[in-house]
Amino acid sequence: MCGIFAYCSFLREKDRKTICEILVNGLARQEYRGYDSAGIGIDGDKPGEMFFFKEVGKVAGLRKKIAESNVDTTKTFLSQVSIAHTRWATHGPPSVANCHPLKSDPKAEFTVVHNGIVTNAAALRLVLQKRGFTFESDTDTEAVAILTKYIYDSQPDKRMSLTELVKTVLKELEGSFAFVFKSSHYPNEVVTARRGSPLLIGVKTEKKLKVDFVDVEFAGPETENIDSLAAPTSPTGLLAPPSSGPNLLRSQSRAFMSEDGLPQPIEFFVASDASAIIEHTKRVLYLEDDDIAHIAEGELHIHRLRRNEDGRPETASHRTIETLELELAEIMKGKFDHFMQKEIYEQPESVVNTMRGRVNFDRNQITLGGLRAYLPIIRRGRRIVFCACGTSYHSAIATRAIFEELTEIPVSVELASDFLDRKTPIFRDDVCVFVSQSGETADTILALRYCLERGALCVGVVNTVGSTISRETHCGVHINAGPEIGVASTKAYTSQYIALLMMALQLSEDRISLTERRTQIIEGLHQLPGHIRQVLESDKSFQDLATGMLANQRSLLLMGRGYQYATCLEGALKIKEISYMHSEGILAGELKHGPLALIDENMPVIIVMTQDSLYPKVQSAYAQITARKAQPIVICNEGDEGIPKDVKTIRVPKSVDCLQGIVNIIPLQLLSYHLAVKNGFDVDFPRNLAKSVTTE
Ligand code: F6R
Repeated sequence: MCGIFAYCSFLREKDRKTICEILVNGLARQEYRGYDSAGIGIDGDKPGEMFFFKEVGKVAGLRKKIAESNVDTTKTFLSQVSIAHTRWATHGPPSVANCHPLKSDPKAEFTVVHNGIVTNAAALRLVLQKRGFTFESDTDTEAVAILTKYIYDSQPDKRMSLTELVKTVLKELEGSFAFVFKSSHYPNEVVTARRGSPLLIGVKTEKKLKVDFVDVEFAGPETENIDSLAAPTSPTGLLAPPSSGPNLLRSQSRAFMSEDGLPQPIEFFVASDASAIIEHTKRVLYLEDDDIAHIAEGELHIHRLRRNEDGRPETASHRTIETLELELAEIMKGKFDHFMQKEIYEQPESVVNTMRGRVNFDRNQITLGGLRAYLPIIRRGRRIVFCACGTSYHSAIATRAIFEELTEIPVSVELASDFLDRKTPIFRDDVCVFVSQSGETADTILALRYCLERGALCVGVVNTVGSTISRETHCGVHINAGPEIGVASTKAYTSQYIALLMMALQLSEDRISLTERRTQIIEGLHQLPGHIRQVLESDKSFQDLATGMLANQRSLLLMGRGYQYATCLEGALKIKEISYMHSEGILAGELKHGPLALIDENMPVIIVMTQDSLYPKVQSAYAQITARKAQPIVICNEGDEGIPKDVKTIRVPKSVDCLQGIVNIIPLQLLSYHLAVKNGFDVDFPRNLAKSVTTE
């Protein structure tokens, strides 16, 4: 939900063309986060001046606009900071006016890019309007830019540093955010801060750094109030006293000196996602909630917005520079037309990566290192609560039955938003498992924090290393599916499925009575990559279905039961989100309680009828719909002779019951892909959606 990017270079001559390219490429890599509009703000020709380029739609449009402009692209800068943004609209429709960077005034004294939602923006806006400010956009972000100017102007002596200023602004804000601030009053400086939205900083140097961490600094006592700002009657309590400028501590280590102690050329890349940084450097720092990072003069300093009562920072006093394990090739499309297609085709490998080093096929053993120390607590738990959204929720539904079977612990599966709406009772002996590809989904994070507050053991099942959920949970499993760029989740689903299944297998390792069942499942895991590969080989037949039998349909029902209910929900979600065709996953057992009324000869139905213990019951659902003249497409196992010859079938290899859902989802992923391609829809960027939903 919006991607932010900033590029800061010091003592390193860069021409404007290169700077623009770096910014636009940084946005293009994060386009999956939002693609309603894109914009950049760069240094102008005169000191303090800024040039903006903004365009509605995707980053390609912005790139074109910059190429067609007549700014002097050869102008060079020895040091510069520039900011960029790709938007997923929340406040106000996609338009140039609402496109970031947003500025405080026509002269752009303060400019801001923002990911998240400021929930008290309307109140701030009112207060600022009353004080004579005018707004040019509908965004919450503009209120933040204007508020910054207001606070700056209100200081009699203008002594506040940019960090102090931002800190004062942030204290007024409610909601979630990641920001980058740039100002004509503080040339060659940026301040970036997060609360609830992801943010990381890449560091690129030529020489080795003296330190590989940054000290976290915290403000000294908050002393003075700025009288003119004290506005006790203002609805937002505008404004809280700013922290005292001169008392800000400097970090002990002068961050990022080279080993020889001399200043050196250095570049910083601020982004919402590592994929925007990886082509420049693998050395990154992940910011934590309430961190405020200040970049200036080739240095990076991190401050805390909040302190504990004893005045200490709440979190670790260092932010370590980590080395990303991501490769650029992993986030490129390669020979595929779309990221989604590439990611579907990657599944024979991505499922292996999920199992790598964790499944010992010779000894029938599962070892999830991140859980080992917590196994006794999980086994003692009174129940397991899975909490997730969208596709991740479906992976939890898909594995619930095997979890209950193997662990004998009751499992409930919760949609994170509903879980919070209901204020679900959670206790200290609950084990709460948060499943998320991005690890940044706002609803899931809020549910996690809710459970942490209530003392439950919180386990993460996450794809993105370093994400909020992976950091805030007590323990967990990285699914290791590799970066997923396509907005529609595919390989993350199959890897989440396997990660959850492995968790259940590990939890049940001491149960002798389950040895045979465990052996059967582990053998099924061994065969799985081959089974997926086999289904992928039939891709042409799924394409034919999309361009033939289903080509002009407006609606599609998917039916199944038991393990295949999740397959139907997930298949229907894939179809609706990228092909915009109405589709619905139906539990076959519920058919006669309502959905049967939809069935006639015109209603397309896919029924999942692979062979497991519920096969006879699904056969009966099949009989009920064919009796109403439906002409279903049947997903069934190879060699199943029970399906009449004239019925359209999708034949898939037979796997173990609890793994069959992984095999069965592949045709549906491909079908949804081809339906979208056939209609000329933007497969990787479906309308109105974003990859990472960092707002509630
Ligand atoms: C659908 C899809 C979404 C996500 C959901 C949760 O294809 O991708 O439904 O599954 O937004 O996202 P994560 O897994 O990142 O928490």
